[in-house]
Amino acid sequence: MKTRFLLPAATAGILALSLTACGGGGGGGGTTGGGSDAGANLDSRGPITYVQGKDNSNVVRPLIEKWNAAHPDEKVTFKEQTDQADQQHDDLVQNFQAKNADYDVASVDVVWTAEFAAKGWLQPLKDNMAVDTKGMLEPTVEAGSYKGTLYAAPVSSDGGILYYRKDLVPEAPKTWDEMMGMCSIAKQNNIACYAGQFKQYEGLTVNASEAINSAGGSVLNSDGKPNLNTPEAEEGLNNLVEAFKNGNIPAEAITYQEEESRRAFQEGKLLFLRNWPYVYNLATTEGSSQVKDKLGMAALPGKSGPGASSLGGHSAAISVYSDHKATALDFVKFLVEEEQQKFFATQGSLAPVFGALYEDQELVAKLPYLPVLKTSIENAVPRPVTPFYPAVTQAIQENAYAALKGEKPAKDALSDMQKSIETAGAGS
Ligand code: GLC
Repeated sequence: MKTRFLLPAATAGILALSLTACGGGGGGGGTTGGGSDAGANLDSRGPITYVQGKDNSNVVRPLIEKWNAAHPDEKVTFKEQTDQADQQHDDLVQNFQAKNADYDVASVDVVWTAEFAAKGWLQPLKDNMAVDTKGMLEPTVEAGSYKGTLYAAPVSSDGGILYYRKDLVPEAPKTWDEMMGMCSIAKQNNIACYAGQFKQYEGLTVNASEAINSAGGSVLNSDGKPNLNTPEAEEGLNNLVEAFKNGNIPAEAITYQEEESRRAFQEGKLLFLRNWPYVYNLATTEGSSQVKDKLGMAALPGKSGPGASSLGGHSAAISVYSDHKATALDFVKFLVEEEQQKFFATQGSLAPVFGALYEDQELVAKLPYLPVLKTSIENAVPRPVTPFYPAVTQAIQENAYAALKGEKPAKDALSDMQKSIETAGAGS
């Protein structure tokens, strides 16, 4: 029995974007270790704040209560951000820039680690501040690391899933074309066929990259250079463009983030939905859900077999400006412990970071989606890893959005994307 994931060679490595940019991290003094702030308050204990995006899965408050009951002098306050990835990012940037001591521990999306670490905002998790990552999935550890040092401890992974109505679709489609072929079933039932997240924000970068990867293309080549002027990338983006045009993706999906698309599916308005694993728990337990007993889950569809998800997930990082880093470190260790990981999985259907949990009999019995999720994460492709990620994701979002809205042919959008990514580092 495998106790850890074996990733296909092509996706195992982090896709570090090689940009010919000037050095430093852009504005943070060029430190990658947090400078003198990283040496401060290491032994200090006291109340701290944990900052995270909206707790859609209702897992954070119960855990904080559990922690607080056991640590009356080191209580954690939950600062809950919105449910939008870009707003969470900008809120963290503002507070780190202001050296806010109240943002002690922050939940960091896998795509922000490089930027925040390069700016010197995250406490390196090494030496006395080390967190044990043994048994964690390699891609989650890589995503929390920058230049070989861990800066954010993996808390939850994420892989895209194809949710489908198993009452209407006898067997999940394996390819994009198969899925599009099944859209007639949606028509017969007066519902829309497919949606993902197509608003212009981080989720669009995720979805556009998945379309490109799943059609056999890639955002970066194996040398870390943008690789978007290819027929495969064009086919991938065009799949989405065409589906918007012919109505297989409903027009309103251009405004969807994760939550809007989840609600549409839960209300019974969609045959297929691309979303993250957290949807399983809510779609099967929320009173208002119309799809409780009709929920099928499968790998994302690809060109001639399963497609490739973008790797998602979150890690917990300690701000170099925290006044109470000893407490912050204990809290981070608490969040990643196996007991909490099981709670995230059973209560919120979040993806554990320990490989062995995907083989845990008790967990698998409760959570039938675990093997599907495992495949999704095994085949997941990281988004570009670079301190200049905000400019890179903007290049992808803007151009993909223009193509989906029919304002630019997919080919032009990809070539503009390519150019903007090439220059992304230069002005930062
Ligand atoms: C999820 C993923 C994260 C991604 C975000 C996009 O939260 O875990 O990695 O960036 O969705 O909206």
